[in-house]
Amino acid sequence: MPTISKKGQDMPQSPIRKLVPYAEKAYQEGKTVYHLNIGQPDIKTPEIALDAVKVHSLDILAYTRSEGSDGYRTKIANYYHNQNIEVDKDDIIVTTGGSEALLFAFGSIMDVDDEVIIPEPFYANYNGFSTASGVNIVPVISKIEDNFALPPIEEFEQLITPKTKAILICNPGNPTGYLYSKEEIQKLAALVKKHDLFLIADEVYREFIYDGYEHYSIMQEDSIKDHAIMIDSVSKRYSMCGARIGCLVSRNKEIISTALKFAQARLSPPTLAQIASEAALQTPQSYFDNVIEEYVDRRNTLIRELEKIDGVQVAKPKGAFYCIAELPIEDADHFAQWLLEHFDIDGETVMVAPAAGFYSTKGVGKNQIRIAYVLKKESLIKAVHILSEALKVYKKS
Ligand SMILES: Cc1ncc(COP(=O)(O)O)c(C=O)c1O
Repeated sequence: MPTISKKGQDMPQSPIRKLVPYAEKAYQEGKTVYHLNIGQPDIKTPEIALDAVKVHSLDILAYTRSEGSDGYRTKIANYYHNQNIEVDKDDIIVTTGGSEALLFAFGSIMDVDDEVIIPEPFYANYNGFSTASGVNIVPVISKIEDNFALPPIEEFEQLITPKTKAILICNPGNPTGYLYSKEEIQKLAALVKKHDLFLIADEVYREFIYDGYEHYSIMQEDSIKDHAIMIDSVSKRYSMCGARIGCLVSRNKEIISTALKFAQARLSPPTLAQIASEAALQTPQSYFDNVIEEYVDRRNTLIRELEKIDGVQVAKPKGAFYCIAELPIEDADHFAQWLLEHFDIDGETVMVAPAAGFYSTKGVGKNQIRIAYVLKKESLIKAVHILSEALKVYKKS
């Protein structure tokens, strides 16, 4: 039989994938499962975006330019201007989600066996993008005790080798909810300048910032304009995950012309979804105000309820809609499966994401879970109650 590639064999499965059969079995048994495990928001997509698709007047659903339509890129540049990020349309390549932007970024700056330093825990799919690109992730551990703040810059510096090409951060972070301060970004900027590295920032959660903090983008650091690559997406901002539209942004012309070659190879980002995404840019501020208010309420509820549980430690998120909680157990993988298979209260149980899959250092984060607070407040309260009762039973079993 012909053989599968080593790369194919090495591609990681989603860390929650192995729990899916247990969740399906729970449904078959008639149980309700509260999904704290996935980042699919329940927030409505702005009507203006959905309407634009309904009323379009296209006769042919044609390709657009590989870098995305001119009209859409011009409007994105304007959106960034309003976020204090000065770029123009030629600094932007529209992609099929932030996911493709990450792949293009990796492909444009790294060769096989090159290294990218990433603070962990990190968005699990960075593992998949690295494997697909033949690149090695070098993790630097950020700690729950510090709320997952940027690890000391010396720890990054110690990890730099001749193979290091980039540092990748997610700001605000999935799965940590941590928001890097301007000072932290400036420390990273100084480091990448000193060692001539790229700094990739995944800023797909930029709108989701709480408690009056402000987002500081790597694109605001003029000193690293040739080093900075920003990854963005409409998925979370407008609750449009299914549109599959994102972008790669850089003021380094060489990066853009290289990424464009990757973009040309796949011809075009989705045309209808660009129409929806362009219209979404007109979403009124009141939409975001309501969404933020909703998430703050959910976050506060979640943290308050989690903190009531004996032995649970939780990092309070300043942004995005995730948090990491440390549980008084040894193996969150086992606990998550046990919850689905063996525990319910009146037919209701919870699905959580074991956090070990968000670390690349083996053995770290084994007693942690990631919770996405994308459920209504009442459901979150019920879900945490189930978690709390489950822990009592689990510890005895
Ligand atoms: C941190 C982060 N980056 C990138 C993505 C990719 O999103 P998309 O491809 O839908 O834009 C996600 C999706 O959950 C994410 O959480």
